[in-house]
This record gives sequence, structure tokens and C-alpha cells, in this order.
Amino acid sequence: MSKNEIAISIKGLYKVFGNRSKKMVTHLKDGMSKADLLDKYHHVLGLKDINIDIPAHQISVIMGLSGSGKSTLIRHINRLIEPTAGSIDIYGENVLSMSKGTLREFRRHKVAMVFQKFGLHVHKTVAENVAYGLVIQGMSLKKAKQKSSKWLVRVGLEGFEDHYPSQLSGGMQQRVGLARALATDADILLMDEAFSALDPLIRTDMQDILLTLQQELHKTIVFITHDLDEALHIGDSIAILRDGEIIQQGSPQDIILKPDDEYIVDFIQDVNRGRVIQIKSVMNKGVSIKGPNFNQNTVLEDILPEIVKSAQQMVNVVNDQNQVIGSVDLKTVASAIAKPVIQSNNNTNYTQSSSGD
Ligand SMILES: Nc1ncnc2c1ncn2[C@@H]1O[C@H](COP(=O)(O)OP(=O)(O)OP(=O)(O)O)[C@@H](O)[C@H]1O
Ligand SMILES: [Mg+2]
Repeated sequence: MSKNEIAISIKGLYKVFGNRSKKMVTHLKDGMSKADLLDKYHHVLGLKDINIDIPAHQISVIMGLSGSGKSTLIRHINRLIEPTAGSIDIYGENVLSMSKGTLREFRRHKVAMVFQKFGLHVHKTVAENVAYGLVIQGMSLKKAKQKSSKWLVRVGLEGFEDHYPSQLSGGMQQRVGLARALATDADILLMDEAFSALDPLIRTDMQDILLTLQQELHKTIVFITHDLDEALHIGDSIAILRDGEIIQQGSPQDIILKPDDEYIVDFIQDVNRGRVIQIKSVMNKGVSIKGPNFNQNTVLEDILPEIVKSAQQMVNVVNDQNQVIGSVDLKTVASAIAKPVIQSNNNTNYTQSSSGD
């Protein structure tokens, strides 16, 4: 498992809905907006010039408002939607040049989807639902049930094998959906608003189940949400879509600390920054004091009382090996917690740019 392996590489992807879609790409390349394309040519812009490399074995979140193109993008990955232009490679294989047979095998073995509305078979039991992906792969139902039973245990549904979906709560149904996806052994999981239909507490539970499983399974997960808290909680990286275009991609810390434009500032303005920003993201590298040490991943809120208490109003930041790698002071923490400002034209780190003059 190489660390920087790219699982999914999307290049120059356009999707226009309408019967003269290819021609519309020229207008888009000339700078026409989504609104004008609809107004003048009665075509709907789905995606515009998407370029994204999705790393293997991580959770990549795609976020955006309703209609921004999230579902359209994820459905290109297993070619449920044909692009108007561009390319999609999965582990170096061009999805667009796959034959029908290859594509079918690819969908059965390499990718699994988890749907917002669960997508369970109502007349099949829980065990049969989970086994379904394997049966489609050609396994006997008996063997498929045996093989998939461990996944029911892993999502906490032991004892519910013979229940029907309608006898389960929403959260439990989505655990069936997750177990079904995992049972196929597919490396890539496509999750389109998979937890959005659930109550907030159940939703947080599901996020934690996913994160716990992911620590062990290292799947390549493309996770769509319109919920920033969810994105920040589970995403190793986040890409933000607006009107079919990716307007920023980066780590959760990048998005919060260096929003690229007003749209993203709007998105992140209600975030509890103290609970999200980690001290490693705002530290002064290399400067250290004789004083308390805190792990680099500690969030600002947890550090604040200690800083206020400390003699120099400053604490050290240590890496996971307990080596001091920098420090943070009260002024830095206070300005990081303050409302976001656009940082895009600024290559310096947040600490320098926010605490200067
Ligand atoms: N089959 C279609 N025909 C025409 N327009 C479409 C079609 N599918 C999607 N669109 C349009 O493409 C754009 C992107 O839609 P998409 O469903 O990908 O958005 P989304 O970000 O998933 O939204 P939501 O959060 O509501 O699920 C929207 O303007 C939508 O109206
Ligand atoms: Mg959608």
C-alpha cells in the first residue's frame, strides 16, 4: 500500500445535460456561466473542468450546496453517467474505454455504493441484503451469507440477520447498507449523502462506525455531503463544488484557515473554530519555551485554558513522537478562533499573516 497512491484520477471532466452538449463545452471553455448556458442555450451545466486526484485509502469528501454537481460527479466514477468531455482513470485504467463486460465486473468487484435512501431490498432479510453483492458476483446465497455475516457483526447488527428492513430503524438500515458495501471487498466506496437522512445523533454514530472501520480497512472512500461538520469530522480531504466547478480542495484545516473565496467563507462561518483548528496548523515553527507540551493535533479550545494559565501565555507543540516542533501563543490562538478571512493570495502561514502588523 503506497502512501501517495492515486486511486481515481479525473481530468478535464465536463458534463452538460441537453442534446447538443458537446457543442456547449466550447461555450463553457470560452467562459460562459451556468446561468447563461441555461438562459441562452437551454442546456444545464452539471460539471465544468473537474480535475481531481483522489488518493487511495483515504476519505475524500465532496461538498457543496444542492445542485452544485455532487451526485453528478460521484456517478461518473462508476460510469453511471457518461461525461460530455474528459477522462476518469481508476488505478490507471480508463473507465471510459472499458467494454460492457469489463465495466460490469468493475462495478461488481471494485466499487460499492452506499445510498442516501439505503436502497435495501424490502422483501429480503438483513442477511440476504448484505449477501446480495456477493450473490451478484456469482457466489451461492449460502456461501455469501457465511462470508458476509462478519460484516453484520462489525456494524453491530448481530442477531438481526432474519429481520426485514422495515423492522429496523433508519440508522440500522444504513448499517445494513454499509455492511453490504463492505462485504463485496470493493476497495472503493462511493457514499452519496449516505448519512444525510439520519437523525443527528444516529448520524454521528454512523460517522464514528465508519471512522473505526476505516482505521482498519483503509478503503478509498468518496463521501458526499452538504454538511460541513460531517465533512470536517470524517474527511482526510475536502473538495468544494459550486455550480459544477471545484473551487477549493484541501485538508479540513486548509479549508477552515485559508478559505479561497466568499462562498467558502459563507460555508465555514458557523463552524466552531476552536473545536476544529489544530495547534499544528497555527504554530510558530521551531520556537519553543520551557513549558507544557501538547500534541500537535490538540484543538485550540483544549489548549486555551492552559495557555492562559501558563507563565508566558504560550505552550509547546509536540509531534506524535513527543518531539517539540514549535509553539503557540495566546494572540495566535485568539486570532485563529476569530472569524475567517480570505487567505488565498497569501502563501505565508496563518500565524504570520494574521498576527503581523
Ligand atoms: N438528468 C439530468 N438532466 C438535466 N439536468 C440534470 C440532470 N441531473 C442533474 N442535473 C442538473 O445538474 C446539476 C447538478 O445536479 P446534482 O444532482 O449533481 O447536484 P447535487 O449537488 O447532487 O445536489 P443535491 O444536494 O440536491 O443532491 C443541477 O443543476 C441539476 O439540476
Ligand atoms: Mg445529490
